[in-house]
Amino acid sequence: MTAADKPVVIAIDGPAGAGKSTVGRALADRLDVGYLDTGAMYRAMTFAALRRGVVEGDLDEVAAMAPQVELSIEDGTVTVDGVDATAAIRGREVTEAVSQISANPVVRQVLVDRQRAWVDERGGGVVEGRDIGTVVFPDADLKLYITASPRVRAERRVRELGGDVAEVEASIITRDRIDSSRAHSPLAEAADAVIVDTTGMSIDEVVARIMELLT
Ligand code: DC
Repeated sequence: MTAADKPVVIAIDGPAGAGKSTVGRALADRLDVGYLDTGAMYRAMTFAALRRGVVEGDLDEVAAMAPQVELSIEDGTVTVDGVDATAAIRGREVTEAVSQISANPVVRQVLVDRQRAWVDERGGGVVEGRDIGTVVFPDADLKLYITASPRVRAERRVRELGGDVAEVEASIITRDRIDSSRAHSPLAEAADAVIVDTTGMSIDEVVARIMELLT
């Protein structure tokens, strides 16, 4: 994007493991704009809670913590309260607790404000999560809802991180259910989102399809 172009916000939502991050990064590269992985922010908050000994289910304790947490995501490095949490936020402990932390309305408000500030500072970008097109940027230029079957999503995760497909699939289904049924900003397709089912598609095919939507 050149400085003369209109700032562009691309919102990418969808369930875990659908390929949002890979597609989002590739898209941001092609368009030469920034990329924000908001899932990493919710994971970072979860890391902070675990590190501080905050009980995930204690609404008030989590709410009191949220505004105090310092987090930065720079060039793929996630720093939480001054500690490099890049690897830990992808670990099992954080993955198991993150749905509960991200269901907390105060956590969501704190992070949504930071996500909007990130876009304001850059004048646009590709932002990926669960509620980006519905809540964070309802006026985004393009809203994508990227999905794939739970089995295919589990197979992709296992290829990346190892593990057992059936076990990962079960955990994905559980996380989808929690993310879609929570009271605050549940995972949902925006009415005007373009739905991209990546089952059986390569990343290159998905990116090519989305680039077509932008031209
Ligand atoms: O995309 P991910 O799997 O790294 O996201 C981790 C968790 O954060 C996931 O369980 C849902 C939650 N999340 C959310 O509630 N809202 C977002 N915008 C992004 C992620």
